[in-house]
Amino acid sequence: MDAITALKTRHSVRAFETRPIPKDVLEDIVDCGRLAASAINIQPWEFVVFTTPELLRKVADATDHGKFIAQANACIAVITQSTKYYLEDGSAATENMLVAAHAHGVGTCWVAGDKKPYAPDVCRILGAPEGFKLVSLVALGYPAEDPRKPKRPLADVLHWERY
Ligand SMILES: Cc1cc2nc3c(=O)[nH]c(=O)nc-3n(C[C@H](O)[C@H](O)[C@H](O)COP(=O)(O)O)c2cc1C
Repeated sequence: MDAITALKTRHSVRAFETRPIPKDVLEDIVDCGRLAASAINIQPWEFVVFTTPELLRKVADATDHGKFIAQANACIAVITQSTKYYLEDGSAATENMLVAAHAHGVGTCWVAGDKKPYAPDVCRILGAPEGFKLVSLVALGYPAEDPRKPKRPLADVLHWERY
């Protein structure tokens, strides 16, 4: 799948097949995350990939709107040092991984991390060092649904030269 097609057809998936995602595919998804743009190229990120049902359940239970993580095949936590642009950097890495996963035929959903009261709990569960930030959780699995969200039309959001 070319990049433009991947970007234009990605959508969130919250129901997954039980079929496992090969390790090299998960590695490639994280590889695309680590290559994201990063302010001053600090790359403050770490990626914790977890696949065991116990851990998926534990993290799912800690969230409010991420209970479906328990049925995912894998989850990637984007955890960063507390740098000035950690949220922008971690978000860029997260979006890269959503698109990369889609190009591999793997469905994903971004589950909020930063700003959520459960963020420190998830960091603790995953053994992150003190002071690190949970930017996002990415649930992954082969799609068992094909939901499409309405998007604002290009003509509504595109402004040439000035607003
Ligand atoms: C910062 C952020 C946090 C999100 N958190 C959640 C979440 O906690 N639970 C969830 O089900 N979806 C979450 N989403 C996914 C959005 O609901 C989804 O991207 C949006 O509805 C648009 O749908 P699409 O991804 O299919 O384009 C989050 C997305 C972003 C960017």
